[in-house]
Amino acid sequence: MPSNIALVKYWGKRPGNLNLPLVSSLSYTLDGYGSKTHIALDEKDSLILNGKEKSGDEAKKTFAFLDLFRATSEYYRVVSDNNIPTAAGVASSASGFAALTAAMIALKGWDVPLKEQSMLARLGSGSAARSFWNGIVLWHKGVREDGMDSYAEPVTLQTEPMAMAVLLLDQSQKKISSREAMKISLATSPLAAEWPARQQAHLDAALKVKDLPSLGHIAEENAELMHELIRTGTPSVDFDLSETKEWKTRVRQWRGQGVPVWFTQDAGPNLKLLFPRASQKDITERLNATGVGYFVV
Ligand code: DP6
Repeated sequence: MPSNIALVKYWGKRPGNLNLPLVSSLSYTLDGYGSKTHIALDEKDSLILNGKEKSGDEAKKTFAFLDLFRATSEYYRVVSDNNIPTAAGVASSASGFAALTAAMIALKGWDVPLKEQSMLARLGSGSAARSFWNGIVLWHKGVREDGMDSYAEPVTLQTEPMAMAVLLLDQSQKKISSREAMKISLATSPLAAEWPARQQAHLDAALKVKDLPSLGHIAEENAELMHELIRTGTPSVDFDLSETKEWKTRVRQWRGQGVPVWFTQDAGPNLKLLFPRASQKDITERLNATGVGYFVV
């Protein structure tokens, strides 16, 4: 299953145990970049990730998710391979939980429509709900307490075809998980009260765009607002490295030179650049000239 990058971000949860989001979100799927997972019955639980047996938090989170499906005395051997460069810092939890959901459904031999698969994956990680389709995907936050209206579906925007370059700026571990940073910022930032309405306005506008520059502009503004919310929480969290700041400046400079390119940023220092597919040659030439590592989807 592929990973995905939000153009209008999921940030914040509603109360309860069903991982229900405060806001709806819109994403672009990283076709070909994600996780391949197989689950077999075994004597005990195990997780083999990229050829290595894991025992820490990753394994705990995985087994806790599998508990949702577990019959009495049923144990699982989970073998998962991730082909996203580790340096990308790209939410591997999105592809990871989507692939885990699909593998569990295959093991059980169930026939589950994608909409319901999306709801099941959401229980593991919110962004995983959006990984079941290619292209642009909308995750409806829903309003019900049982979460049965909180699912994703593919949508078509009236823009020219887009592409995304994922920049590989930093390889280090996340300093704080998105789950933790979400909690802190929404509980303490003075911007928390206005975030849901401003985020919804971004989403409404994104769904109506007629061209890619409008979508790029919204995506960049939405990411900047999310990071302002995170920075103004207590304690303040700033995901930017100096390279991140340099790249934001560079993207704005390129735009000043007439290049149609915008950035978005998740809970880490790496930027993802958004541009029309027709500009791919120009953008990759520019990226190559800087020596930065990247991949384009
Ligand atoms: C900044 O999906 O990782 O990438 O539901 O707690 O697992 P949990 O959070 P997660 O958060 C993703 C946050 C984001 C924005 C997004 O992908 O929409």
